[in-house]
Amino acid sequence: MARVATLVELEERKRAGFVSLVGAGPGDPELLTVKALKALQNADVVVVDRLVAPTIRALAPAGARVIEVGKAPGRPSTPQARICAILVREARAGHRVVRLKGGDPLVFGRAVEELAALTAAGVAFEIVPGITAALGCAAAVAVPLTGRGERRELVLLTGHATDGAAEHDWPALARPGRTLAIYMGVGAAPHIQARLLDAGIDPQTPLTIVENGTLPRQKVLTGRIADLVALVGRHRIRGPAVIFIGAHPLRAAAAPVLVEAA
Ligand SMILES: C[S@@+](CC[C@H](N)C(=O)[O-])C[C@H]1O[C@@H](n2cnc3c(N)ncnc32)[C@H](O)[C@@H]1O
Repeated sequence: MARVATLVELEERKRAGFVSLVGAGPGDPELLTVKALKALQNADVVVVDRLVAPTIRALAPAGARVIEVGKAPGRPSTPQARICAILVREARAGHRVVRLKGGDPLVFGRAVEELAALTAAGVAFEIVPGITAALGCAAAVAVPLTGRGERRELVLLTGHATDGAAEHDWPALARPGRTLAIYMGVGAAPHIQARLLDAGIDPQTPLTIVENGTLPRQKVLTGRIADLVALVGRHRIRGPAVIFIGAHPLRAAAAPVLVEAA
């Protein structure tokens, strides 16, 4: 079972340099785990994705150095090799480094490259899980991800690949009995809708889009899979958003902003 580091362990880590790869959850600071909060509060250096909410970064100690990396609107993203080099450099300088990532570090989080760099450099690390966007968004608006006897599978998938829209086994995804939670799917909405319809999904399959889930500007749209592209366009969905296919919110009242397709 995961446990919180003792003071002696924290001192030891400070001497040797240590990286905590921490999941910041989907945005609401109250969704941080106790372990994530503790790692953040003990950090000398915080290497943070620009998309991580300011309210979460603010939990780092006043004296901690914050290094922003990742994507920023209208600016080029920090190359992954540079992020890896920063982590190794700061740990070797004897710092307790927190690498703060949105959601969970191991879900579409490019943790693999960073862990490989730390391992190659002989830097000790730990992974602190976070609430991934699909789970945070589903809870925020009461979308049931499974249903006894009707939906037995939950599939997390990305709509985006390095070379454009991602391809998947669409006929398998189109079969009833599963909920799809699509990350990074806004730009690929036309591709996703077309592929699923071509693969034979029922056009009436429920659809829920949660943009900025768990944050004050959260937006929720509901409709059918055949409405996906129209909803994204009409409501100017830019993301970050999770597209749920196969489920609707249980109670409309659960969502601060809910727009239902006609
Ligand atoms: C690069 S992936 C990182 C996923 C992250 N590691 C996780 O576990 O949630 C970024 C995508 O996560 C989803 N996402 C992250 N935060 C979100 C939020 N607050 N609301 C809705 N979707 C979110 C969006 O699909 C976004 O494009």
